[in-house]
Amino acid sequence: MKILGIETSCDETAAAVVELLPRTDGGADVRVHANVVSSQVALHEQYGGVVPALAAREHAANIGPVVERALAEAGHPHIDRIAVTRGPGLAPALLVGLTFARALSWKLEIPVVGVDHMDGHIHSNWLSEHFPAADIRFPALNLIVSGGHTDLVLMRDHGSYEIVGETLDDAIGEAFDKVARLLGLSYPGGPKISALARSGDPMRYQLPRPMLKSDTFNFSYSGLKTAVLYLIRDITNNARPLTDQEKADIAASFQEAAIDVVVQKAIRAATHHGIGTLLLSGGVSANALLRERLAAACQANGMICILPELRYTTDNAAMIAVAGYYSSPTPEQPAMDANLRLGQNTTA
Ligand code: KG4
Ligand code: ZN
Repeated sequence: MKILGIETSCDETAAAVVELLPRTDGGADVRVHANVVSSQVALHEQYGGVVPALAAREHAANIGPVVERALAEAGHPHIDRIAVTRGPGLAPALLVGLTFARALSWKLEIPVVGVDHMDGHIHSNWLSEHFPAADIRFPALNLIVSGGHTDLVLMRDHGSYEIVGETLDDAIGEAFDKVARLLGLSYPGGPKISALARSGDPMRYQLPRPMLKSDTFNFSYSGLKTAVLYLIRDITNNARPLTDQEKADIAASFQEAAIDVVVQKAIRAATHHGIGTLLLSGGVSANALLRERLAAACQANGMICILPELRYTTDNAAMIAVAGYYSSPTPEQPAMDANLRLGQNTTA
């Protein structure tokens, strides 16, 4: 089955053509024929974050050419199904992709399925060439770390999810972005913090590990961001700018604290639920230290750790196409839900 994936939930206009070849074990082999991403980062950078109305305008201008390019790169194949992100995300941005997908489905007379963006991130792990999807065993525990989510999701099968932990305030990616802003770095801050941290000392400043000791598997990242704000105030006394070394040491100390919490909690949740396979996904899964630490912690605890390939960590439509394969088309057209929650109406 060849699926055209479409993704416009935030600031990337993306389209992909993915072929899935069913296997006898119920899974499928995956081949990515095209994966086109048009990023709006440069536009939103000047505002310090994504502006929904501007994002929608850019999506509307780019969606046609992006889909056309994906189809051309794939050799204009016959498409069996369209998969489109229907939430969660920015409402005006989501509507552009959804409306385009519905119109194209009508024109081509092929079904369209609505996909939960987070279900897409989870399925970025099925795009890996290094760890064949056939080797992923259920139940698995997903650690989803992005700009909007920090979730621990128990996965019993494709489409069968239970959120066992989530952030009570800011998401981990949001904390990276906010701390980056405090250090004078532009949006998105995650990659810039991790680059800066390479020349920093992660032990120089002791920062809190919020909720590490709590009995739940929930997270909280707003306190860590505030701790960094106070730390900067204490260092500079509001009287001088930070030195480059201080900035690097703050970035490294923050990154250490932020990652320490997700890794420890993911292992604890997997142990508690008796799960031997951990899957990482979401934009923050591009972070090298997180990948290294999670892999090492899994190894130390006898668990299998699956990491998405770097090119599929941030928003893309290939992951939406794979998630769309495991969802069934419904008689109704997919509707937008900006607050969609994994496990609820994922396939509607
Ligand atoms: O999944 P994503 O592309 O969009 C959402 O669905 O939110 O994630 C974007 C987030 C941003 O907060 C960005 O700063 C973060 O992922 N990010 C990183 C890295 N690369 C992207 N955070 C830490 N380290 C990175 N290398
Ligand atoms: Zn995302």
